[in-house]
Amino acid sequence: MSSLLQDASRAGASVGLKGDTITIHGGRPLRGRIELKGAKNLVTKAMVAAILGETPSVLRDVPDISDVRVVRGLLDVHGVKVTSDEEGVLHLDPSNVESAHMADIDAHAGSSRIPILFCGPLLHRLGEAFIPDLGGCRIGDRPIDYHLEVLRQFGAVVEKQPSGIRMSAPNGLKGTKVHLPYPSVGATEQVLLTAVRAEGITELRGAAIEPEIMDLINILQKMGAIITVDTDRVIRIEGVDRLDGYSHTALFDRNEAASWAAAALATEGDIFVGGARQAEMLTFLNVFRKVGGKFDIADDGIRFYHPGTQLNPVIIETDVHPGFMTDWQQPLVVALTKAKGVSIVHETVYEQRFGFVDALVEMGATIQVHKECLGGQACRFGQRNFNHSAVISGPTHLRGADIVVPDLRGGFSHLIAALSAEGTSRVSNVGIISRGYENFIAKLEQLGADFVLEG
Ligand code: EPZ
Repeated sequence: MSSLLQDASRAGASVGLKGDTITIHGGRPLRGRIELKGAKNLVTKAMVAAILGETPSVLRDVPDISDVRVVRGLLDVHGVKVTSDEEGVLHLDPSNVESAHMADIDAHAGSSRIPILFCGPLLHRLGEAFIPDLGGCRIGDRPIDYHLEVLRQFGAVVEKQPSGIRMSAPNGLKGTKVHLPYPSVGATEQVLLTAVRAEGITELRGAAIEPEIMDLINILQKMGAIITVDTDRVIRIEGVDRLDGYSHTALFDRNEAASWAAAALATEGDIFVGGARQAEMLTFLNVFRKVGGKFDIADDGIRFYHPGTQLNPVIIETDVHPGFMTDWQQPLVVALTKAKGVSIVHETVYEQRFGFVDALVEMGATIQVHKECLGGQACRFGQRNFNHSAVISGPTHLRGADIVVPDLRGGFSHLIAALSAEGTSRVSNVGIISRGYENFIAKLEQLGADFVLEG
């Protein structure tokens, strides 16, 4: 079995999804209401933050997704007791934090990148941390170079071993000045989770300021941290001697909200996304409107619907917040195959995020990917050999096909493509979608999709 298939079936199985293939009879608009829970990209980090507290934490609106289960497993092997007496509520008790066995860490790490964020908290609590080398592109040198450099700056001794990376802090961790070469979400979180208990002041320049990071700062402040967010991506943290547990309701998942919004548009449907909020989705809503999508903002969510007329093409450049999020582009591209004219999507956050379009082309879309920076300013991938711009010509009618889900967001876009296509599609590897979309099968049923889950 390929590692992708293993990841998919492990992810699906961990949230009770037996079959890994779904047969979809497309062409039926998705209509109805679904409810969001907390953001995957906040909840998983909030769970790690609980390690820093001397007393237990409570986290609410936790989605039942496999990435949460991965982090729960990792916390468990480090002695953090995680219990749940109510749906969506986690109690995290870090009173007995301990070092874990390498094999146990490895078994729970999955393809998640969260283990790297355990470093700062574990160094504070135990004086040491170990990150398994998961091999391949999952945890190579490059994707975590900012993290390792940041930890070294705080005073961690980083030792690469054949099986992973071992860290220690023989002289404790001390506040420092960090300037990130790129506003990386993970590296910003690494600085926050390390600086709050480091001795002295940390100044972070070039920080990412995504809403999920702001909510992590809310949590850390509840725990006793002193964090100032200045203008121009500067964050200052005054280290404190002690942090306590927190009680927090997680920020809603704006990536999931945007995914269902794109599904409403692509299937000519009408979906009320309960829990979605305007403030964190301003940029998405502007683009959705330019494409021709309609939305009504209510106190308890946002209704997204097709206008009943031809969609318009757009030029989008993905970017760090407050720009158009990279995670929003894949689902929206499916709707753009139905817009009249030429759309351009320039991906500037990840160098290889257009793998998913091959399946759309097979289904009848006209999409070309290019190495050049198209439709906007030159980005850091312009001089490198990556297909990071996509040109979508429409409108095209998608036809059903047999497709294999490549990753989380690309996978959701494949689902939307199959739901909006004429005829039948067989979409395999769908387990991977459960890494970030809670109960997506039940939600599809609620919205009236016509499908059969195999297995
Ligand atoms: C987070 O990934 C999210 N994941 C991603 O969501 C999201 O797409 C991304 O932020 C951008 O918003 C989680 O929160 C778990 P980065 P992260 O560090 O933190 C480069 C999803 O589908 N980089 O901001 O890993 C990196 O290669 C996922 O929910 C380095 O070069 O993203 C990328 O080009 C996918 N070296 C860029 O920075 C480093 O040490 C931004 O990555 C770290 C990052």
